[in-house]
Amino acid sequence: GYRIGSLLKDTGAVTYDPGFANTASSSSSITYIDGDTGVLQYRGYPIEQLAEHSNFVEVSYLLIHGELPTQEQYDAFDGRLRGHTIVHEDLRRFFRAFPYDAHPMPMVAAAVAALSTFYQDDLDVFDEGQVDTSTFRLLAKMPTIAALAHRKNMGLPVIHPDNSLSLVENFLRVNFGVPAEDYEPDPLAVKAMDQLFILHADHEQNCSTSTVRLVGSSQANLFQSISAGVNALAGPLHGGANSAVLTMLEEISASDDGPEKFMERVKNKEDGVRLMGFGHRVYKNYDPRAKIIKKTADEVLARSGGDPLLEVAQKLEEIALADDYFVERKLYPNVDFYTGLIYKALGFPTNMFTVLFAVGRLPGWIAQWREMINDPETKIGRPRQIYTGAYSRDYKEMNER
Ligand code: ACO
Repeated sequence: GYRIGSLLKDTGAVTYDPGFANTASSSSSITYIDGDTGVLQYRGYPIEQLAEHSNFVEVSYLLIHGELPTQEQYDAFDGRLRGHTIVHEDLRRFFRAFPYDAHPMPMVAAAVAALSTFYQDDLDVFDEGQVDTSTFRLLAKMPTIAALAHRKNMGLPVIHPDNSLSLVENFLRVNFGVPAEDYEPDPLAVKAMDQLFILHADHEQNCSTSTVRLVGSSQANLFQSISAGVNALAGPLHGGANSAVLTMLEEISASDDGPEKFMERVKNKEDGVRLMGFGHRVYKNYDPRAKIIKKTADEVLARSGGDPLLEVAQKLEEIALADDYFVERKLYPNVDFYTGLIYKALGFPTNMFTVLFAVGRLPGWIAQWREMINDPETKIGRPRQIYTGAYSRDYKEMNER
């Protein structure tokens, strides 16, 4: 029970756990994290090995099916993906209707939700074949949708996907291609993008994934559930942090106060300012993804002639790692701290960064949704509450209030 004023309410056994910091919402065999030592594994495979040897399509297969594919399975999976990259002409029209300066995340969320209006033939959540078809449609169309949002913002003409390219090559083409010109994928950009997508592909029960599962637990279809995940990812405390980091670095760089003064403001919690890209609910150690990304950032930025913002970022990290405030709270760089610098070097505008996170996280959301829908233990997600409002009041007419 719990006490409100003088009333003791009998609530039965209800745990109160804001932010679900200690509540497991499901069992899962997809992703393992040890936050104390900084370990991340997909289906048992260490993230470092996958980032080095695998590619995003293979990792998507692994997350969804539980095992690495054989060559034959890979070819079938990849081939089916290549066949689904084009979006319906009417879906493209959505992008004409959005305001030109709209943020791309809500555009993407709306387009993903709208997929269930275009593919009404594969919405049965318990039909494996239909779920499989929606899986391919989502994985293949999400990069196209993301690029439509990007090019809408930039006022650029649409570039159609080319099925002779891999998923990541195609993604770069639809974002950066020029009409009527062959697109030559840049190998370093492809490698960096592949790796970033792999690192973002799943992270167990984070806010957006839990959202996908919760929405899906009502047996809403895959498109609707994933659209909800995109919206959950948009916030600055989750996926939105990657663009917030770049904005922060730009502000520090443009102001007369250097990184030291900024860090004083963070520590004094002035105006609630936080060091974006630092801290994590689960990692109380260096985020293993941030370690891998730091190396890629060096490679990509070296080629593009460097970025003074990288020095600002490195300085902030150096201060944080030697400062009691951060050390005591176990605040280390998370995945978002260095990604923005890479995205920027590849040519993406800041407001696209969170969309890139969404493209990467998609196979994880799908794998988790599928695990949820097939789990006999699944029940509709319906948390309890601790009621703190008034009890049993009599209605008063307007003139008596
Ligand atoms: N900068 C300064 N102080 C911080 C930061 C930060 N980035 N993160 C946490 N703290 C402080 C809090 O003020 C709090 O201090 P207190 O004990 O004196 O009050 C303490 O550390 C614990 O912080 P909580 O907010 O309780 O930690 P929580 O687990 O709820 O939050 C979160 C995790 C949201 C990621 C947080 O660290 C944060 O806001 N980071 C910045 C945003 C960010 O980078 N988000 C991306 C997360 S990773 C991802 O989504 C891929």
